[in-house]
Amino acid sequence: MKILMVCLGNICRSPLAEGIMAGLLAETEGDFIVDSAGTYGGHAGHPPDPRSIAVARKHGIDISGQRAKLITTEDFKKFDLIFTMDEEVQRDVRRMTENPAHLAKIHLLRTYAGEDDAVVPDPYYDKPEAFERVYRLIDIACTKIAADLTSGLNKTAAGKQ
Ligand code: 4NP
Repeated sequence: MKILMVCLGNICRSPLAEGIMAGLLAETEGDFIVDSAGTYGGHAGHPPDPRSIAVARKHGIDISGQRAKLITTEDFKKFDLIFTMDEEVQRDVRRMTENPAHLAKIHLLRTYAGEDDAVVPDPYYDKPEAFERVYRLIDIACTKIAADLTSGLNKTAAGKQ
């Protein structure tokens, strides 16, 4: 199972989502690959934002080795599940393909986790505390999704959007 986390810049939210989900799934028996990308390539090649690195480190996760990259249409073939951080990112990723099989892989992270609120808010221009909140929201969603994925429940096959 290959999972791609997607936000706008791939320097704040999706690096955290990659680090958190990879950490959760590493403790399981399953064969998982977790990666991340952005819909905007302006930060490609850059490490995560120092505020994301700091909040991850506070929670015992090292994301400093990640490097930002732009999502490509190849990713629709490569990954089984593509999780987006907000509706704008979701819309932009969906616009990249018309293939129904590929569209079916694209989900809002928090919605897929069963949360009422679909959005992981963009913290880039926000206060430092926003990064702690973003960490918490992503951690809650990823914990639920990881539990489902590892309990043998295949939501993709079950047709959940
Ligand atoms: P991210 O945050 O999408 O969570 O990585 C952002 C990073 C950079 C920009 C916007 C959002 N930017 O406009 O450069």
